[in-house]
Amino acid sequence: MRALFREAFGSDGDVTVTKASGRVNLIGEHTDYNDGYVMPVPLDMHVWIAGRGREDDLVRVYAADYGEWAEFDLKAMEYDLEHLWVNYPQGVAWALAERGHQLLGADLVISGDVPIGAGLSSSAALEVASIRMFGELSGLQLDPVEVAYTGKRAENEFVGVQSGIMDQFVASLGAPGSALFIDCRTDEYKRIPLPSGARVIVVDTTVKRELASSAYNERRAQCEEGVRMLSEDMDDVRALRDVSSEDLERLGASLPDLILRRCRHVIEENARVLDAVKALEAGDAERFGELMYASHESLRTDYEVSSDELDALVDAAREIPGTFGARMTGAGFGGCTVNLVNEENVAFFIDRIKESYMRSTGLNAIVYRV
Ligand code: GLA
Repeated sequence: MRALFREAFGSDGDVTVTKASGRVNLIGEHTDYNDGYVMPVPLDMHVWIAGRGREDDLVRVYAADYGEWAEFDLKAMEYDLEHLWVNYPQGVAWALAERGHQLLGADLVISGDVPIGAGLSSSAALEVASIRMFGELSGLQLDPVEVAYTGKRAENEFVGVQSGIMDQFVASLGAPGSALFIDCRTDEYKRIPLPSGARVIVVDTTVKRELASSAYNERRAQCEEGVRMLSEDMDDVRALRDVSSEDLERLGASLPDLILRRCRHVIEENARVLDAVKALEAGDAERFGELMYASHESLRTDYEVSSDELDALVDAAREIPGTFGARMTGAGFGGCTVNLVNEENVAFFIDRIKESYMRSTGLNAIVYRV
């Protein structure tokens, strides 16, 4: 990063380096914006930033992987339609300023190896690495939960994507080799080591997530509609987090079928995450894997955010000996699956899944190990 900085800005004196990782979600999908539970794990793939403070209000940024420059003025921040990537560092500068922090200008270089558009949260990694950088250069005391919420605010209000808190939370608080259980209502979290003898393998469909943001917003609205309808018959329902499977069984008949299915996914997925915590703490990879398959089934049929390619990968994984579980991960409609595989079978798994995916779709899957 120092060498890149030197190339871009001529010298590397007083340079600070920050980073943040991408993530894969093990279980708990489309639950974060319903005040529910999630369990992501950080990847060994990062966004890196090298930076140095300036005396004025200018922020100059070089995106080394694109060979592109952009800049913005801390006193006049505006969405940049030409360099979309700069809206992440600019958005967090805006969100920090909104929280009352005084920022200094900066020269920045960004680079990274989190794949972009694959559903592995390169944007949250860029946000968190940028917040850490502004924090360091401007001498801010930022608590890691505040870092996560600042990133989310940038994403929601500056970039304009209505995501939940999961991605920024794990980018800020995740630790390598441990799943991060997060209660997205209380912000309580717990790091749980991955089971020994099992490996997390990410398989990328290489299909870009089409229509993902409009469908994502539509699912959010359907969940809110469910909350509104259920709260007519129940007290104290602020989010689907407050509804149990028994409540839904009792009251579900009054809901339109589509809303019922959306609610059922979220409510059962929350219960699955709590079961997954127990399985992980007991080192029970078999049970964890069953919960992953059940999560996929629910995302495919009730929540309807899977795709043919994601289903092909999960079906293929099921047939490979030594696989504990598999499911789509992230928002859906494309992107990746996450697989829990017996350590001894990893090489075999990778060969077989690629071959099977090629046979069923004609596409080359990309495999990442966590
Ligand atoms: C995206 C969002 C997250 C979460 C997932 C679905 O990754 O950024 O907040 O809602 O989708 O679980």
